[in-house]
Amino acid sequence: MIALGSDHAGLPLKREIIALLERMNLPYHDYGTYTEDSCDYAVFAQRAAQAVASGECDRGILCCGTGIGISIAANKVKGIRCAACSDCYSAKMTRKHNDANMLAMGSRVVGSELGQMIAEIFLTTEFEGGRHQRRIDQIAAIERGETL
Ligand code: RB5
Repeated sequence: MIALGSDHAGLPLKREIIALLERMNLPYHDYGTYTEDSCDYAVFAQRAAQAVASGECDRGILCCGTGIGISIAANKVKGIRCAACSDCYSAKMTRKHNDANMLAMGSRVVGSELGQMIAEIFLTTEFEGGRHQRRIDQIAAIERGETL
């Protein structure tokens, strides 16, 4: 199950991601926003991120104007590793090395085709584990307030 979230600026790209998920036969839950009315990205970042952090959803995809604000907000939820990506290489590597569980993209940065490509790579690339797991564990330790 894929958690989706966006603000008004990210809505057009989120709609493209929904079309991709439907082609891939992947179930999703859209945590809003649902209209073009101006709204605050942190609200939707938090709703989708909590669904991923709780295990209700496996991964999440967020869209705002740049992909930055919504990723910063999502990363405040414990257990979330949200990567703002605007290229395919970063999307692949953030899965392989960072085990990113959320992807954020900007509607004003990437076009619909590139956005769909980035999302597909994010959804189909596996975490490599090994030495990268130690680094993920260190990120979790920072979240717990520990000094590395
Ligand atoms: C909204 O205008 C815009 O600031 C927001 O979508 C996002 O780009 C913030 O990071």
